[in-house]
Amino acid sequence: MKHEIVEKNIGLMSVLILVVISFGGLAEIVPLFFQDETTKPVEGLKPVNALQLEGRDVYIREGCYTCHSQMIRPFRAETERYGHYSVAGEFVYDHPFQWGSKRTGPDLARVGGRYSDDWHYAHMYNPRDVVPESIMPSYPWLNYRVLDGRHTATKMERLRMLGVPYTDEDIAGAADMVRGKTEMDALVAYLQQLGTVLKDTR
Ligand code: HEC
Repeated sequence: MKHEIVEKNIGLMSVLILVVISFGGLAEIVPLFFQDETTKPVEGLKPVNALQLEGRDVYIREGCYTCHSQMIRPFRAETERYGHYSVAGEFVYDHPFQWGSKRTGPDLARVGGRYSDDWHYAHMYNPRDVVPESIMPSYPWLNYRVLDGRHTATKMERLRMLGVPYTDEDIAGAADMVRGKTEMDALVAYLQQLGTVLKDTR
């Protein structure tokens, strides 16, 4: 009995199990590479500008993603609270993705435009000044740390290598846009554009 050979030989069985699983994987994963929906930007999507890009890096450095996701799931409870569910085409210029997987705080995928800039400055400086019951940490140092824009153009060039459509002018003007701004300015600029490209379809 051929089957008995497989059952009594753990090495052979492991190899055959791997073959079966990889076929399953291929059938699920390969079609995704050829689906436009996952790689085509949604209409009107623009890459973040130089200042917003620096803000994104502050977001990553401070670990905001450990408490905040940027991914609205297609469920009623989520869309009622946050707005239109997230679609793949909104994220094609994000390297790396900031989807996150932990929600100690609210999802931020569509926080852009929900509050005024002033609200964000106050909230980031000390969340309890505007949301008394908040457990979010304060980030007062973002106000004192001034950006010099030295590396902004290089960052944009690298992103362009990954397919983000920055123009030569975007890159040439990067340092000037960033220099002298605080990390707080950059972070708020980043937050204020999150999810705005699909906002109106809510
Ligand atoms: C320890 C967890 C934690 C971390 C880290 C954290 N937050 Fe929060 N955040 C919260 C909680 C909880 C709330 C809800 C209460 C509030 O509004 O302060 C919140 C609220 C917010 C809101 C308002 C969202 C809304 O829709 O009302 C924004 C914007 C925000 N956080 C941005 C940030 C940014 C940017 C960082 C990183 C610099 C950050 N958070 C880090 C927990 C966190």
